[in-house]
This record gives sequence, C-alpha cells and structure tokens, in this order.
Amino acid sequence: MAKELIFFLVFLVFSSNPVFSHFIFNGFHDSGDQMSLNGVADITKNGLLRLTNISQRAIGRAFYSSPFQFKNSSNGKAFSFSTAFAFAMAPAYPTLGGHGLAFVLSPSKEIAGYHSQYLGLLNPSNHHGNKSSNPVFAVEFDTVSTIEFGDRDDNNVGIDLNSMHSNASVTAGYFLENSKVQELDLKSGKVIQAWIDYDSAINRLEVKLSTLSKKPKKSILHFDVDLSPFLHDSMFVGFSASTGKLASFHYILGWSFNMSGEAESLSLPSLPSLPRPKQNYTALILCVTFPAVLVMMSIVFIWFYLVRDMEDLDMIEAKDFEIGPQRFSYQELKKATRGFKDKELLGFGGFGRVYKGTLPTTNTQVAVKRISHESKQGIREFLSEIYSIGRLRHRNLVQFLGWCQRRRDLLLVYDFMPCGSLDKYLFDEPKQVLSWEHRFKIIKGVASGLLYLHEEWEQTVIHRDIKAGNILLDSELNGRLGDFGLAKLYDHGSNPGSTTVVGTLGYLAPELTRTGKPSTSTDVFAFGALLLEVACGRRPIDPKALLEELILVEWVYEKWQSGAVLEVVDSKLNGDFDECEAILVIKLGLMCSNEVPEARPTMKQVVRYLEGEVALPELVPSPGGYDRKEGNRSGSIAFEDYVHSYRNSSCACSSAFEDQDIDVEAGLTTHINLSRGNGR
Ligand SMILES: *[C@@H]1O[C@H](CO)[C@@H](O)[C@H](O)[C@H]1NC(C)=O
Ligand SMILES: *[C@@H]1O[C@H](CO)[C@@H](O)[C@H](O)[C@H]1NC(C)=O
Ligand SMILES: *[C@@H]1O[C@H](CO)[C@@H](O)[C@H](O)[C@H]1NC(C)=O
Ligand SMILES: *[C@@H]1O[C@H](CO)[C@@H](O)[C@H](O)[C@H]1NC(C)=O
Ligand SMILES: *[C@@H]1O[C@H](CO)[C@@H](O)[C@H](O)[C@H]1NC(C)=O
Repeated sequence: MAKELIFFLVFLVFSSNPVFSHFIFNGFHDSGDQMSLNGVADITKNGLLRLTNISQRAIGRAFYSSPFQFKNSSNGKAFSFSTAFAFAMAPAYPTLGGHGLAFVLSPSKEIAGYHSQYLGLLNPSNHHGNKSSNPVFAVEFDTVSTIEFGDRDDNNVGIDLNSMHSNASVTAGYFLENSKVQELDLKSGKVIQAWIDYDSAINRLEVKLSTLSKKPKKSILHFDVDLSPFLHDSMFVGFSASTGKLASFHYILGWSFNMSGEAESLSLPSLPSLPRPKQNYTALILCVTFPAVLVMMSIVFIWFYLVRDMEDLDMIEAKDFEIGPQRFSYQELKKATRGFKDKELLGFGGFGRVYKGTLPTTNTQVAVKRISHESKQGIREFLSEIYSIGRLRHRNLVQFLGWCQRRRDLLLVYDFMPCGSLDKYLFDEPKQVLSWEHRFKIIKGVASGLLYLHEEWEQTVIHRDIKAGNILLDSELNGRLGDFGLAKLYDHGSNPGSTTVVGTLGYLAPELTRTGKPSTSTDVFAFGALLLEVACGRRPIDPKALLEELILVEWVYEKWQSGAVLEVVDSKLNGDFDECEAILVIKLGLMCSNEVPEARPTMKQVVRYLEGEVALPELVPSPGGYDRKEGNRSGSIAFEDYVHSYRNSSCACSSAFEDQDIDVEAGLTTHINLSRGNGR
C-alpha cells in the first residue's frame, strides 16, 4: 500500500510538473537564468549559445540550470529521454577545425575537465571517469582524430561512457531516402541538427543527424546499453566544448529536451542566424553580380572575336629588352602548352595553374604559369617590375624567361624543372625518399638563393611564400626557389575587401598575421619551417599527426629539450643521415622559427652556419611563448628554456665547432663553448 503511494507520488511529481520534464529553446535570447554557463561560454546578442570562440585551449559549458530526475529512485532504472539540438562549428582555419562538442549528462555543473581532446569532460590523468563521483555520459561530435582514444577519423560522432574512448562511433552523416549515407562535415560551419534518444524500455540509445529540420527515420549511430549505472538519480543536461591548439567557434542555436516523450524537432529557419563568415559575403556579392557579369562577359566575348588581334591594349611600353625576360606571344605559349590542356598541367601555384610546355621555336621545355588576376592595377605594377625580376639570376632560383599578358591573364614562363617540387618528396607517401645528402644540398641551395634575393641583389626582394611546394628540383636534385618576385601581385590580392595575409599556414611568422607586413625576417621564419620539414619529413602543421606532434616546431623543441632530438629526423631515412648536419639543420630551424623577429638570424648568418663557416650557439632559445605545461603561457622566454640544450659533443664536425665566442643577434646567446669528444 505504502509502496503504491510512493509510486503515485513519484508519478505525480513527474506528470504535474511539465516545466521540469521538457523544454525548448528556439534560440537562447529569453533563456535568462534557465541556462547556466561556465568557462568561456556566452550567449550572443542575437541569441546564439556560443560555447567557445577561437581562443586556444578553452572550455565552454552550458547546462540547463535545474537538474532532472534521471532514475526511478525505487528501482534505480534510468528513464528514457529525448533531445534535439542544432549546432554549428566554425573553425579558425577552414581545414583544421577545433576539438568539437559534446552533449553531456553530468551530476554537477562544474566538471574538473580538461580542454583539447578531452572536450572539457575528463582529465588526462583520469580519462576514464569515476563511476561514483564523476560519471560521464556524453555524445561527442569530434573534429580532431585522437589516436590515443581510438577515434575513427576527424569527423565522427561517438558515445562515451565514463571514458573518452568512444564505446561506439561513426563518421558523421545521415541516411538519405534511398538509404545511402550522406556524409556530413561537422566543421563546415553549417548548421546541423542532432537528435539523441534513449529508450529505457529496450535499453537503446540512438543518434541522428541532419542538415534539415525533419528528423530522419534511420539513426546513424545506435548503441544498446542500459544507462542506469552511468547516471545518478539527479543529473544536469547540457553541452561542453573545447579548443586546443586548434580552435573553433562552437555554437548551439536551439535545443529541445524531453523526459516525457519525443523531443520536438527544431525548425532550423526559425533559429537565430550565425555570424556571417567573410567568404559568404563574397558569395553573396557574386550572386548579385553574376547576371551582370554574364552580360558583360558576352560583350567581351563578342568583342574578342571582332578585335582579337588588338591584344594587350594596356600593355606597358615594350622596353628594349636585350637581356632580361622575353615577351612571348599568346599564340606561341598556347601552342607550347597545346592549348593549356589539362594533360599538361603540372600543378597549382599561388594564384594560378602551371603548365608544361615546349617552345615551338627553340624546342626547349618550359613551365608556364597562368595567373588570372582580378586587379588590373596589380598586373600593371607587376609588369613594371618584370624587367628587374627577369634580371634576377642565381643557380638556386628557377629562371624566369619571359611573360605574356592578355587582358587579365598573365602568363609567366620559367625554366622547366624536371623533378617537380620538394613537397612531393617529403610528405605523405613520397614518390622517392630523398637521401640526407640531397636534403642538405637542397637546404644549402635554397638558403643561398634566398640570401641572393635578400641581400645580394641591387634591391631587396622578399619572397613571401617560401614553402616546400615552392622549391623545385632540377635534374641534379638541386633546390631552386620558384615564385619569387610576385609580391606586387599579392599586394593586390583577388579579394579587395580583405587584407589577406599572403603565405601558407605554418609558414606565417606571427608578426605577419598581426601587422601584415612582410619582411626579410618573415621569410627567415618560413625558411625555418622549411628546414624542420626537410629534416623531419613532416608538414609544419599536420592535422593527421598525434596532438602533441601537431605543430612541428613545438614538437621538435620538446624533443630538443629532452635531449632526444635525433628522434625527430625523418624515419623514412632509416637512420641513414649525418648526425651533425641533422642537428645543425634542426637547431637552425628552431632559431629561425623564433616568434620574436629580432631573435631570428639573417639569411647571411644562416648561410654561414650551413656552410660551417661559423658554429651555431650551443643553446637554443625557446622558439616562442608556447605553453608546454598547463597554465604556463607566457610571451617571455623562460630561463629554463635555456638550460636544456643539446650538445653537439659527439660530433666530429667541421673545424668550426671549435671552442669559440660568437655574438648572436639580440644578445640571446653570447658565449658558446662546445666541448668535443666527451660523449653524450
Ligand atoms: C574569446 O572569449 C574570451 C572570453 O569571453 C575572450 O577573453 C577572448 O578575447 C575571446 N577571443 C577571441 C579570439 O575573440
Ligand atoms: C519505478 O519503478 C517501479 C518498480 O519497477 C514502477 O512500478 C514505477 O512505475 C516506476 N516509476 C516510474 C515513474 O517510472
Ligand atoms: C572515485 O571517487 C570516489 C569519491 O570521490 C573516491 O572515493 C574513489 O577513490 C574514486 N575512484 C577512483 C578510481 O578514482
Ligand atoms: C565503454 O568503453 C570503456 C572504455 O573502452 C569500457 O571500459 C567500458 O566497459 C565500455 N562500456 C560499455 C557499456 O561497453
Ligand atoms: C515532450 O513530449 C510530450 C509528449 O510527447 C509532448 O507533448 C511535448 O510537446 C514534448 N515537449 C518537447 C519540448 O519536446
């Protein structure tokens, strides 16, 4: 009798308190104190719940402020629940993404969780939850593949029970009508709706995703589990997201939750809109202007056929080019590349495609770079410099032979480099593993080419896009710098509204992203990244790598500090390399990668180090204010960064490694005392 009364009361509590058994937020404008936020989570002016912004290593959480009764207190059985929410993740760098977010049930709103791959849920020391104190139930939407946790890829949905090791996971997607799976890119920045339903009668948890408002019939992920052991009687529901070295905006746009039936699906169009990324703005302009452009193009097209011989109306006065670059006719280059056939395509460089060609007159092989530039101004300024660019001559530069302009198309003709670009030999599955000897030769060559551009020519030429893809190899595998002298074109980037920083992620000096001003020392920074790449056979930022190895320079520096620096040398070399040279290259790479421009060496110093004319300082300052340890982010260089260093002691290298004093720029290290022969 008493039992029945209790059941009746429990029933009463649940059925008479609808506010407590379900809620829906179409945007969070009016959520008031119904949501409790912690970490960096915030509600934006237009009603988005923003769990994190693109600050690194942050956690953002948001919970419904009152807990729910998740278990039948008389028999300890978990209740069914159902939720739907709309989210979007807009990463700082389009291809990289943050760490993702999770729907969480937690006994407390304050979890002692860690950022990065832990999504703010658990700690590195205890990434298996504690059933009694801190049980974890989460459905994670993970955008970084963490090998440690056996993630299947960097775009997955997983169910986590007391562990960051998903008990079930699947690549994000949904079923189409024809029961084919449509993959979804979680970090595309698009709004995605997710449904999570737990049916306690059959102990099944189901997850569904879609980009639409309608709930799909079939679930993309299900897991048969009785959640009772993973839940406390009273639990909070909410979300947790984190950023690490990679960062992303994590938004929740709307949310419905129900303990007494199926959660209502959200109508996506009625939710607050996301801040518009800049690209979309251009897309909008394109949409509006497209018809107009079409009309203009037809006019141009007609004009082209009527007056096709009147090319290059606004060409600069042809100077008397005796030496220097030659001006080619369009017909000649068209013939050389067999009409710019895709078959002749060698690759894509900054701004344009590169074709292979054979000049009909001389039968020499050339590479023709075709740049379509939207700004005539940019082309004109470039052409006014073409004469001087054409006179740049160095055995480590890809020789510029000539050009042709046809309206907005600029065709640049270069020596053909039969062995292609350096990146093809270093990353992923290289077509051929370069021996250390070749690598060292390439590095020295590129350094002297860059020194020529910076200091040895009549004016300083800043390259601005040094990377493995811009280093070409000639038939003897000498490294040659390509794409130099294009700075003027970059200045008038194709996107007039934005101040795009030219360069490639991972090679960009930090001050460049701040000020946008390229200099010889930003080139040196990129060269430093190149040195490390060549030595390690890895990209400067490698999304596929383990998290600790994600950012090459940090990883190398950590190994350096621990005295295990030779471990970073490309394993594809099978240990077949000159240790002295490898240490030299890595050390120099770290010095060039310093976040402080003044602390980087000049190219002249770099060349002297590489040639063994001068010995490197024994101590390498920390390349930057990385926080290798939790909570140790500092812009200044800590003392301990100096004390660990790697001794070149076992090296019987060139005579330059004698005891000597050297002044290094910025006074970072002034005294070097390399003792030889006393073992490591
Ligand atoms: C991110 O949010 C935090 C806390 O609200 C703020 O301090 C930081 O400046 C923001 N970062 C960016 C990049 O907007
Ligand atoms: C709780 O469990 C008891 C015993 O199994 C059951 O009779 C009762 O209906 C349950 N209460 C609710 C609210 O589900
Ligand atoms: C789990 O938490 C409880 C209570 O705080 C504690 O007594 C227990 O030792 C913890 N267990 C583990 C494995 O950490
Ligand atoms: C979930 O995964 C963890 C870690 O792999 C494991 O310890 C646990 O037993 C799993 N739970 C279930 C219910 O399968
Ligand atoms: C919760 O479920 C009940 C019963 O199906 C339904 O009437 C109610 O509208 C739902 N509420 C939400 C917010 O989903």
